[in-house]
Amino acid sequence: MALLRSAFIALSRNRRLRRFSERSSIGTKLSSRFVAGMEIEDALRVAEAVNKQGMAVSLDSLGESVTSEAEAHRAADIYHKLLDAIAARKLNANVSVKLTQMGLELDRGLAESIAQNLTEHAASFGNFVRIDMEDSSLTQVTIEMVRRIHARPGLSGAIGTVIQAYLYRSEADIAQLVSDGIRIRLCKGAYKEPASVAFPKKADVDANYVRLTGILLESPVYHGIATHDVNMIAATKAFAREHKIDAGRYEFQMLYGVRRDLQRDLVREGFNMRVYVPFGREWYPYFMRRLAERPANVFFIAKNMLRN
Ligand code: FDA
Repeated sequence: MALLRSAFIALSRNRRLRRFSERSSIGTKLSSRFVAGMEIEDALRVAEAVNKQGMAVSLDSLGESVTSEAEAHRAADIYHKLLDAIAARKLNANVSVKLTQMGLELDRGLAESIAQNLTEHAASFGNFVRIDMEDSSLTQVTIEMVRRIHARPGLSGAIGTVIQAYLYRSEADIAQLVSDGIRIRLCKGAYKEPASVAFPKKADVDANYVRLTGILLESPVYHGIATHDVNMIAATKAFAREHKIDAGRYEFQMLYGVRRDLQRDLVREGFNMRVYVPFGREWYPYFMRRLAERPANVFFIAKNMLRN
């Protein structure tokens, strides 16, 4: 299983296969299990449908590691359009942004100014920008940038980030972010990391996830518990029950197309649920990470393709 996970993560970085897949119609069809569509309009349509089921949304315009300033600005433009459309259509949605898509690896100042502009735009509508967390080489810079933007006048509460339970450093990061009042999405972590920075064993990641969830739920800030793991969800509910934490003080988050049954169940039980909805032509690395999480998805998707 660990071998398959590594294989899919390696494939997620394969440029040739990426170019080929993203241009082929079969590839695009395959990706539709986890990706809302290729265009902004597809994402907005899905967001509206998800809202109708009583769930909030976070929209992700797919793409990472841009190679030019112009590309970073083009990626940012899509997010500005999304923020306008969310407000105009009164959708219950925010946006999720990757700093490498905003040029972080080219010029940190560029990525910071783009992220700040997006946050200012979101704040003008009372909306929110979530900065996704990428691999561990970017954890420190991401947290520092989010903290600086959050500290700017008028931007408090308009930007948040993600903490990965597989990293040893995460408890300390949470303490710092929470003391600033910054909203956190807690996830297990989707990248391949060495044992020097991350728990190699799933059992340890899960134990850390449960511990960190407790810290988040007890803090006065509204956080997101992002997982499809029924054990993590049960532990969250049990902690909240035991500590009399109202269900309105946090939200569960899941990915579009993953465990839709569980998403609906949680809404029915009265929990806040947000669905992460990715869209766009650059779906390949995202899709491969989803296969890495659950290699059985390959068979699942193949079966559905044959049926259609
Ligand atoms: P785990 O991987 O242990 O899976 C538990 C169970 O969930 C599986 O047995 C299966 O039933 C189901 N499941 C999980 N993944 C599935 C899949 N792809 N398809 C079908 N079923 C699946 N990571 C990151 O590094 N940076 C980030 O910014 C984010 N952002 C983010 C946002 C949101 C809303 C979510 C839900 C997740 C992320 N992630 C992320 C990804 C996260 O780190 C992690 O890789 C996945 O959520 C899988 O971990 P689980 O907690 O679901 O548990």
